[in-house]
Amino acid sequence: MKKALFLVLAFALLVLSACGNDTTTNKTTSNKESKETKETTETNESKEVNLYTARHYDVDDELYAKFEEETGIKVNVIKGEADELLERIKREGDATEADLFLTADAGRLYRAKDDGLLQAVSSDKLDEQVPANFQDKDQMWYGLTKRARVIIYNKETVKPEELSTYEALTEDQWKGRVLIRGSENVYNQSLLASFIEINGEDKAKEWAAGLVSNFARDPEGGDRDQAKAIAAGVGDVAIMNTYYFGQMLNSEDPEEVKVAEGLGIFFPNQDTTGTHVNVSGAGVVKTSKNKDNAIKLLEFLSAPEAQGTFAEANYEYPVNESVEATELLKSWGEFKEQDISLSVLGDNNAKSILIFNEVGWK
Ligand code: FE2
Repeated sequence: MKKALFLVLAFALLVLSACGNDTTTNKTTSNKESKETKETTETNESKEVNLYTARHYDVDDELYAKFEEETGIKVNVIKGEADELLERIKREGDATEADLFLTADAGRLYRAKDDGLLQAVSSDKLDEQVPANFQDKDQMWYGLTKRARVIIYNKETVKPEELSTYEALTEDQWKGRVLIRGSENVYNQSLLASFIEINGEDKAKEWAAGLVSNFARDPEGGDRDQAKAIAAGVGDVAIMNTYYFGQMLNSEDPEEVKVAEGLGIFFPNQDTTGTHVNVSGAGVVKTSKNKDNAIKLLEFLSAPEAQGTFAEANYEYPVNESVEATELLKSWGEFKEQDISLSVLGDNNAKSILIFNEVGWK
């Protein structure tokens, strides 16, 4: 059913883009006429921006409505899974309507960049609102919300004093007790990519191999499933993203709330290299026909007003340092972050995947 709907949408878009091409071809009657048509088109186009987003929150739509109200620029939102959207932009090629691509994880944003789908944009406002380490080094994407990849533990079987670092989870006392999702997932690839950057390839590989030998089971499911597996007694500690913990605590499903309430949250590596953080973020599509509007939307979403709301929708931390985190997130305490630029997560992504294969992390 979902697939059928997707096909209908894809077809509709194909028709639309085909129409767009025809119009463009017809415009080239004479140079002068062509220029005039182009100017008119640009004026018309300056009133909208097409956002391809992998986020699915109602509050995001409220923000886009607010942006439209403030600027008169209409945000056309196309939602989908990140990889589907990326494939779609690729498939549509130059004819794509996409102006801005928004997704989770610097590793995935890197994929969009590496596939040549994004373009560099510069803006003083963006530089002011998004810290340099949360931007792509070539200015092809900008972080908009922040999350930490932390240790979640069973409050009944683990004392927080027993926890310290990601590395310590490879010690014997954790044999058969560690839960984490599969290595095909970009969050884990980025986590390992950060270790490659900070500790070097050998140490990163040692960690991955050590963790595999302490697994409670072969990796399965997503982050939330690791928390549920703790509740089910499969293991005692799990590595997961902070917002999943926030989502579970605030879930409409009483079972999820019950699971989360039995768990503690621990920010590892506070006395050493810091906890791994990542972002969801967005980049302007290379062929964007509404580049200025796309930049304006990026500036809007990283501005203090939108930041709180945008992050709150998914229990994330704002990237804009002038904005405070929500009460729930503040209750987890302040923490030291890894001191790296998230650009390196993409640079080291291929090495991560190789290491995961070598150590047999499924
Ligand atoms: Fe996620």
